[in-house]
Amino acid sequence: MKCELCGLEFVEDSPEDQKTHQRRHDTVVNGPRTKATPGILVVTPETRGKLFDRVQWASNRLLHLDFGGPDLCDGRRAYLLVDSGRVVSYVLAGSVEIETKPYRAIFFAWTPLAQRQKGFARRLIAKALEDSEHREIAWCAPLTGDGEALAVSVSGPTLARFR
Ligand SMILES: CC(C)(COP(=O)(O)OP(=O)(O)OC[C@H]1O[C@@H](n2cnc3c(N)ncnc32)[C@H](O)[C@@H]1OP(=O)(O)O)[C@@H](O)C(=O)NCCC(=O)NCCS
Ligand SMILES: [Zn+2]
Repeated sequence: MKCELCGLEFVEDSPEDQKTHQRRHDTVVNGPRTKATPGILVVTPETRGKLFDRVQWASNRLLHLDFGGPDLCDGRRAYLLVDSGRVVSYVLAGSVEIETKPYRAIFFAWTPLAQRQKGFARRLIAKALEDSEHREIAWCAPLTGDGEALAVSVSGPTLARFR
């Protein structure tokens, strides 16, 4: 069967499959486990490691982006919020110019299902902006429904978009 929530396909009466599923399901719903210090962890292409890979896996899985979502390439930074031994939100930021005006670009945001609507993504976006020389945020289109709600809440209805 296929789990509706985490998207994993597994054999229901295989104990081994069930165990694998439980582990992955927990990661997607509650967030990847980590021993990192609570607070905001900044990841660059140079410092990326297994934790970022797991975060990326979990966020892609939930969105059914099996081809892989936007990546941590040159000049971009990933912001991970660590709380109670979990990564509870992830934001991928960079820079973009729209009609010669520079912006802090938000390429992607993800909060595990059970951690949503607690202000976690908002905190990471504030940090990403503070961390840059830019004054305003631009959002990578197309946005998901959740992404649109977050973007409007943070930037107002006339938010800047780019592709
Ligand atoms: C979009 C997403 C990252 C938001 O994360 P979050 O941690 O829940 O966001 P926050 O709690 O910081 O939300 C900040 C504000 O945005 C608004 N908001 C965020 N998600 C919303 C939603 N689904 N519906 C309505 N408003 C929403 C709220 O006004 C919220 O403030 P409030 O609830 O305190 O009034 C999360 O819903 C998610 O991971 N969705 C699936 C992945 C996805 O679609 N990512 C966007 C890709 S473009
Ligand atoms: Zn599942």
